[in-house]
Amino acid sequence: MDGPRIPLCNAGDLVDGGLAVPFDVVHGGQTCRAFAIRWQGRVHAYLNRCAHIAMEMDWQPNRLFDDSGRWLLCSTHGAAYQPDTGACAGGPCRGGLVRIELSERDGVVHWHTAFNLQPVEF
Ligand code: FES
Repeated sequence: MDGPRIPLCNAGDLVDGGLAVPFDVVHGGQTCRAFAIRWQGRVHAYLNRCAHIAMEMDWQPNRLFDDSGRWLLCSTHGAAYQPDTGACAGGPCRGGLVRIELSERDGVVHWHTAFNLQPVEF
């Protein structure tokens, strides 16, 4: 069951195939980076943790799409992921990205907490 929804960014901050918006979550008791993107008009979010080796994937800060804007690409060894599902689409990934539910309402994007995804307490 979904828990509380946390405001993340304005809808206009996520451009199709463009830069990601980063955020932090607690997953499995550890603080992890996560990112939100827009692809084909819809918003998606994943832990920023490659399924090959648990490393962050950015090419440059918040740049996760390849040049074509078609794939999410890990900068370390080039694993490719489907932007809309996080499934492995090529390269050395074993499995897919850990998905985080998002919703978009009244111009604001929210991420959904879950039993294994909690906000970072400050
Ligand atoms: S760490 Fe991402 S492809 Fe190897």
